[in-house]
Parts: sequence; structure tokens; C-alpha cells
Amino acid sequence: MIRALRAWARKHTERSRYSPVGIAFHWVMALLVLFQLGWGYYASWLGVGGEKLRAYEVHSMVGLPILVLAIARLGWRVMIPGPINDADRQGLQTQVAYVMHYLFYLTFFGLPLSGWAMWSAIAEPGPLYLAGVIPWPQLPFDQLPLTTQWRIMDVAEDVHLALVAMLLVIIPLHVAAALKHHFWDRHDVLRGMLPEIPDAEDPRGETTHKPREPKIQPAKAPG
Ligand code: HEM
Ligand code: HEM
Repeated sequence: MIRALRAWARKHTERSRYSPVGIAFHWVMALLVLFQLGWGYYASWLGVGGEKLRAYEVHSMVGLPILVLAIARLGWRVMIPGPINDADRQGLQTQVAYVMHYLFYLTFFGLPLSGWAMWSAIAEPGPLYLAGVIPWPQLPFDQLPLTTQWRIMDVAEDVHLALVAMLLVIIPLHVAAALKHHFWDRHDVLRGMLPEIPDAEDPRGETTHKPREPKIQPAKAPG
């Protein structure tokens, strides 16, 4: 099974492209995380009351699927290696990009986990639902002394806010790097993360992606 999946993904990755599964994970999670950042700030500005509570309920319903997707994406990423693209041939820049990818994964786990911990440490937490439908348990903090629950709330809140701050730094850097590689260096990195659109004019239904021409070294002038 894993071998068959790897062989399928290789058809994409050997053309410097992420597989459709990798692309779907990327854009679905990018949208969810961007929504969460905006909605989280909106909720934090509301005055204490029913509207704020409902806003945080929406925040938790959308945030919990990020944890489930993160587990599935990490599993996928461990099984299926990503493509080697133009940007992977550049020493330090490549290392920085990899570190940023690791930091993203840290936030995919850390934000929902710390949010879940905060929610479960609130005195009378409301019920939690995954994507608004599937009931999700509270962490069993109600057995702990009150002071320990407050301490958990404090630490989880600090972790949540620190990870939000980290996202606010690494997302603009990540997007700027993707655009720089695409428009400035003319690398294939961004194209490899965009869905492939079949070419309507091609009767064989081939995609618009053409493999890059091999770079031909100009012949040295004799003498
Ligand atoms: C990737 C997922 C998530 C992101 C990006 C995110 C982002 C945010 C942001 C931007 C805020 C406002 C911070 C501020 O006060 O300035 C916030 C607050 C909060 N989030 Fe999340 N969040 C995520 C997941 C979750 C989940 C899954 C839950 C609950 C199950 C949750 C519960 C909370 C709570 C309770 C607060 C209020 C913190 C406080 O001010 O005391 N979050 N989040
Ligand atoms: C318009 C916004 C974005 C663009 C243009 C973009 C572009 C890209 C590109 C081109 C890559 C491939 C990099 C490589 O292979 O070296 C990539 C990878 C990645 N991006 Fe984004 N990205 C965007 C937003 C985001 C956001 C908001 C997040 C996080 C929430 C994110 C998380 C990641 C991660 C974790 C990877 C590594 C892929 C993996 O192996 O799982 N990206 N992105």
C-alpha cells in the first residue's frame, strides 16, 4: 500500500511538484490557519458576553480540525518525500526554508493543543465539537485543584500567544520567499505547490506543466 502510494506520488515529485494530496493539505491548512488568526483577533476584541463565547466556539470548531489534519499531514510527509525543486539547491536558504517548515508544523500541533488546554481549564467549559459536528472531549482538568487549573490556563495562554506571534513572523517571510523564488529567481517552487490545470486545448488532456528544458552550458570559444 505504502509502496503504491509512493509510486503514485513519485510521478508528481519527480517533476518537482508536490503530489495533489500534499497540495490539498497545504492550501486547506493555510486557509484554516489564516482564518483562525483573523477570527481569534476578532474574538479577543469582543466585550465579555454571549457573542464573545460564540465567537470562541467557532474558533475552537475550526481550530480542532487543524490538529487532525496536522497528524494526517505529518504521517503523509513522513511516508512520501517532497519534491526536490530549484530552491533546494541553495545551501543556507534551503536550511532556513526547512526550519520554517518545521516551525509551521510546531504551530499546527501547538496551537490546537494549547487552545484545547485553555478551553478545558475554564471553570465551566462549553462542549467542544470537531468542525461543529463531532463531539470532542474536554481534557480531564476538573479533577485537579483550582490553582493547578489556573496555572494550566496561564501557561497554555502564553504558549498560544507565543505561537500566534511566531506565525505572524514566519507567514510573511514564507510568502515573500515563495514570491521571490517565483518572480525574481524564476524557480519552479511555487508552481510545484499550485494545482495542475489540465490543458483544455490538448486533446490528450495533458497538463499545462511542461518539464523544464535542461540547462545547456554555452560552448567555450576555442583557444
Ligand atoms: C491553528 C489554530 C489556531 C490559531 C491560529 C489560533 C489563533 C488565535 C488568536 C490569534 C487568538 C487571539 C489572541 C489574542 O488574544 O490576541 C486566539 C485566542 C484563543 N484561542 Fe486560538 N487559535 C487556534 C486554535 C485554537 C483552538 C483549537 C482552540 C480551542 C479548542 C483555541 C482557543 C483559544 C482561546 C480560548 C483563546 C483566548 C485566549 C485568551 O485571550 O485568553 N484556539 N487564538
Ligand atoms: C499565499 C500564501 C502562500 C504561498 C504562496 C505558499 C507557498 C509555498 C510553497 C511554494 C511551498 C513549497 C516550498 C518548498 O518546497 O521549498 C510551501 C510549502 C509549505 N508551506 Fe506554504 N505558502 C503560503 C501560505 C502558507 C501558510 C499560511 C502556511 C501555514 C499555515 C504554509 C505552510 C507551508 C508548509 C508547512 C510547507 C512545507 C510543505 C510540506 O512539506 O508539508 N504556507 N508553501
